[in-house]
Amino acid sequence: MTKPAFDPEKSIEEILNLEPEEGQPNAETIGETSGVSGKKSTEFNFDIKPEELESFLNQYVVGQEETIEVIATKVCTHFNRMNLEKKIPQKDRPVGTIKSNMLLIGPTGVGKTYIVKLIAKKIGVPFIKADATKFSETGYVGGDVEDLVRELVHEAEGDIKKAEFGIVYLDEIDKIASSGHMYGPDVSRTGVQRNLLKLMEEGEVDLKTPHDLASQVEAAMEAQRTGKVTRQKINTRNILFIVSGAFSGLDNIINKRLNKQSIGFDKTKITGEDRQDVLKKVKTEDLIEFGFESEFVGRLPVYVVLNDLDEEGLYKILKNKHSTVVLGKKMDFKAYGIELGFTDEALRLLAKKANSEKTGARGLLSVFEKVLIKFEKSLPSTNINKLLLDKQVMEKPGEVLKHMLIEDGIHSFQKDFLMQHGIYLEFDKEAVEKIKEMAGEKLRSIKQLCNELFHDYFHGLRLMKLEQFTIPRQAVDNPDEYLNNFIKENYNK
Ligand SMILES: Nc1ncnc2c1ncn2[C@@H]1O[C@H](COP(=O)(O)OP(=O)(O)OP(=O)(O)O)[C@@H](O)[C@H]1O
Ligand SMILES: [Mg+2]
Repeated sequence: MTKPAFDPEKSIEEILNLEPEEGQPNAETIGETSGVSGKKSTEFNFDIKPEELESFLNQYVVGQEETIEVIATKVCTHFNRMNLEKKIPQKDRPVGTIKSNMLLIGPTGVGKTYIVKLIAKKIGVPFIKADATKFSETGYVGGDVEDLVRELVHEAEGDIKKAEFGIVYLDEIDKIASSGHMYGPDVSRTGVQRNLLKLMEEGEVDLKTPHDLASQVEAAMEAQRTGKVTRQKINTRNILFIVSGAFSGLDNIINKRLNKQSIGFDKTKITGEDRQDVLKKVKTEDLIEFGFESEFVGRLPVYVVLNDLDEEGLYKILKNKHSTVVLGKKMDFKAYGIELGFTDEALRLLAKKANSEKTGARGLLSVFEKVLIKFEKSLPSTNINKLLLDKQVMEKPGEVLKHMLIEDGIHSFQKDFLMQHGIYLEFDKEAVEKIKEMAGEKLRSIKQLCNELFHDYFHGLRLMKLEQFTIPRQAVDNPDEYLNNFIKENYNK
């Protein structure tokens, strides 16, 4: 059957008014059955408007408003365009249209991956993330870029149609830039770029890898059994590619270009905020200079530069009720039944410390770990079920933990003593201090220590018919002597 040729003279209106011919897939049939499993595939809801996606993202992501504006718009347009194209019979679909593949430039921990993951979740399309560094031109070492597309099918639980609307997110794309020497690893990097660009436009990928003999045989047997050859190719026409990287050194390249343009105006030194402003002036030629093939850059029509996060931004992340940083930490403790809370002052300090690490929001995580790791280790073996992260914990975590463990040990001893003997023992502040001294590093033995010191107290206290007794420091120093003296002094009163 010969397909009617695409007629470039037709207007969009004409194309859209065309009734699909018989046997031609159209909006109704596309997306209803899937190739591999034959099960129904879900129709996606692609009617999200840019502003809706933008405000969704802004609820979660801090300090990247301009970036989000662009990403949300282009992603929505991409998916809504597919909606439109579904209505066009295949033969009339325009050839060579350029997708809104995107390049995100930004340092570590400012939300690149986070934004893409949130988008995939909101739109509900299959999503995969990989590092560009894991691929090689031949696919012998590391992977083959086509594996990305196959992985999308896996993500879509075998539903090829669904996979064809997925998002591929490739991080560390700057690592496959070539440095201009056409030998050694550079050849391979350029090769990876070339392989990628085929997919980034429109390509077909075999579901089964040519070297995967087992799945080839399986497919052949399946074909024999059912008499049907199942669909085995994935088209990448609608797959959105988002690539990202930190691009260190790109600012110098841009600056050099800017300097050339304005001779005599020397501005080669770049620091802090400047660097960001410079990056925002990135042009295709800078990326080519950085080491990308022009065809590769050509398939990435949208560039966005993410902002660095400052102390205020980091604080806002902590205060954000959706923040996965805080939520994640809370869940780490909740897993042991411990409620973790924060004071505002502590969050300020946390943001300040994290800011000095210069790793964006990742710094928050590492500061959290530093402060909380010992609590996370010790509290689960105690009766403590609440931890309030305040200024004191931030500044002297070791001290606070020690105090908490001592109190817990004493409480536990008090509780047992009350249960066994019906007498409530109290410890005054100095007594607690002394016990702390005696326990030294072995905090876990506090209860045992109390037992050794005061286990026999119940005889004397019962004799005195006491239901409550306060232990002072002297009692800790010399338990027997103190109790004896106490009895002598008070027995006849
Ligand atoms: N701008 C932000 N607003 C809110 N949370 C953020 C932001 N940036 C990062 N985070 C938090 O930090 C975590 C790590 O960030 P993310 O994975 O997006 O970093 P990245 O920019 O991809 O960095 P890398 O280059 O290291 O991969 C996120 O899961 C999120 O919880
Ligand atoms: Mg990332």
